[in-house]
Amino acid sequence: MLNDTILHAERELYLTLLVLAQQQPSAYEWLKQLPTWLGDIKDKANYAHAPAYQASVARLPELTVNNVNLNSDTLTIEASLNESQRKQTTALLKQLMPWRKGPFQIGGKIGDDESGIKIDTEWHSDWKWQRVAPHLGTLKGRRVLDVGGGSGYHGWRMAGAGADTVIIIDPSCLFYHQFMAIRHFVGTADAHETGRYRTHYIPVPLEALPEHSQLFDTVFSMGVLYHRQSPFEHLQQLKGQLVKGGELVLETLVIEGDANTVLVPHDRYAQMNNVYFLPSVAALIGWLEKAGFTDVRCVDVAMTSTEEQRKTEWMTYHSLADFLDPNDATKTLEGYPAPMRATIIANK
Ligand SMILES: C[S@@+](CC[C@H](N)C(=O)[O-])C[C@H]1O[C@@H](n2cnc3c(N)ncnc32)[C@H](O)[C@@H]1O
Repeated sequence: MLNDTILHAERELYLTLLVLAQQQPSAYEWLKQLPTWLGDIKDKANYAHAPAYQASVARLPELTVNNVNLNSDTLTIEASLNESQRKQTTALLKQLMPWRKGPFQIGGKIGDDESGIKIDTEWHSDWKWQRVAPHLGTLKGRRVLDVGGGSGYHGWRMAGAGADTVIIIDPSCLFYHQFMAIRHFVGTADAHETGRYRTHYIPVPLEALPEHSQLFDTVFSMGVLYHRQSPFEHLQQLKGQLVKGGELVLETLVIEGDANTVLVPHDRYAQMNNVYFLPSVAALIGWLEKAGFTDVRCVDVAMTSTEEQRKTEWMTYHSLADFLDPNDATKTLEGYPAPMRATIIANK
């Protein structure tokens, strides 16, 4: 029997935006476009794998879930799995590989994945959350947008931290379906007393959103800015989604240097062919100020290690270790400084 997880999640998204539109008319613009956004992601003409991904989600078994802990580093859905459920679930989740952002665990108990399925993702996204979370203003009761949210791992953590509503956006068809697979097992565990889900996913890029929605108290953009050809446009688009006084959390690749230092890789950077601007922290702060943000502060700088980003059973392609100079891990294969990330917090 097939489940209706995706249909249900989409219905919850419509209802959430309808309720929101009663207070914030700009949400009507989102509602108008939602049928197109949700239709496009299912269209085989746009995404050849869409029907296969949908089928994998729809075949996930119903489990008796005992507890869901959205605050655990390995986002854990405690449930009992019999051997056949375990095999079936593992096989279906593996059809949604590569799993990059996580980790997740389905079945077993927190800290004990003996009887559960541990989705050991390429990234220890929990480490990024540990670096970012202590510096955030409270998320309790806030409306949050996570731009480029990948599988949704951080979005679930934001709900776990008490956000009223989380909307994750990301144009990836695969990551949308990974989110739906996790949603299938989370069920109503993130819901309000009214039963309305708090965590939602819209499969669109930031540029597709109505420009000046001003709907969100906190907007996250983590790991996206360096992929954008026009960083200032990205900053303006993020600003347009924030309420006045709202908080921006921006995490991106940086290099050492002063306020005038910016690296534009000529070709690839760490083998990625879609990397454009890597500023120094000082330059990045200057960009945010130029874009009109206030109280701009850098709260964390960290090198990315080959323990944080690595090949696993759930992501079997090349990973960071293959993208660094084998003789000098402080450099990428192309000879640029190895990945270093900064987290900036600012207000609108
Ligand atoms: C490096 S991953 C970062 C994922 C996650 N935010 C994190 O920090 O771990 C970048 C994500 O941004 C998404 N992305 C790329 N362009 C985007 C855009 N224009 N708007 C929103 N998301 C975008 C990609 O699909 C990808 O999932």
